[in-house]
Amino acid sequence: MPDHLLAVTGASGALGRLVVDRLLALVPAARVLAVVRDPATVADLAERGVGVRRGDYDRPETLDFTGVERLLLISSPVLDDGTRARQHRAVIAAAEDARLLVYTSFLGADRDAGAHHDTEAALRERPHTILRNPFYTDAFVQTGAELTSGTGGRGLNTATRADLAAAAAAVLVAAAGHEGRAYDLTGPLWTFPAVAAALHVAHREQAPAGPMGYLHGLAAAGRLERQTGDLELLLGRAPTGAVEAFRAARR
Ligand SMILES: NC(=O)c1ccc[n+]([C@@H]2O[C@H](COP(=O)([O-])OP(=O)(O)OC[C@H]3O[C@@H](n4cnc5c(N)ncnc54)[C@H](OP(=O)(O)O)[C@@H]3O)[C@@H](O)[C@H]2O)c1
Repeated sequence: MPDHLLAVTGASGALGRLVVDRLLALVPAARVLAVVRDPATVADLAERGVGVRRGDYDRPETLDFTGVERLLLISSPVLDDGTRARQHRAVIAAAEDARLLVYTSFLGADRDAGAHHDTEAALRERPHTILRNPFYTDAFVQTGAELTSGTGGRGLNTATRADLAAAAAAVLVAAAGHEGRAYDLTGPLWTFPAVAAALHVAHREQAPAGPMGYLHGLAAAGRLERQTGDLELLLGRAPTGAVEAFRAARR
């Protein structure tokens, strides 16, 4: 049989699971391959007929993409740029026969140095599509009685994981049209005060501690306000707004 599999790395993760779910609505399960470090983490997917293969970014000898037509490389969660770029290069090298490599990059990676930038450069040698994701709306959602933020009321261009997964699945199943393209994906701009008003809850300006505080600071500096139509283009519909995402989490 000619190569026909649509493979997803990081398939045990939050985004990967959503991509596989979406693929199962679009193609027969036998065409979907979940690549994971530990097959036990996706036993439920195997039960649904999805192929499961072991593959560890840190162990190139485990990476086998035989039969894979198109591969979605979900970026590694490792923070160290050198390690992360090496992991991604190992996957790209192992998938030498794939006819399309789709990669979850990050907004701004075309300019900013780092693992995403290096991975994009490696992908340019191969048939590829780059999906530059924004921050996930999911990470900003709050379910408390009031909303607090350190964003100074500035806009956020986040998108839901589910929408970013649907966009990735759409590229994987498309017959043509995405090769050589890079998409800068952004959700509809939202602000904490506006979401609080829509939810009829109070908003208080108070930056969260830890990593979320850093992200709120980026928003306060106006760094998350860029807008493009690329996510809507890939989805064929308007991306999910923050109010809807907050409401879904609070139900
Ligand atoms: N846009 C954003 O806001 C944002 C936020 C956070 C992260 N990210 C990036 O987007 C990616 C996907 O997000 P997510 O929410 O799905 O993250 P996640 O739930 O942490 O999933 C990460 C996935 O990577 C897999 N993985 C980790 N190390 C691996 C290795 N050495 N070899 C093979 N697979 C490995 C994990 O597998 P195991 O189940 O074996 O651990 C898991 O499936 C992240 O990995 C990160 O690069 C984006």
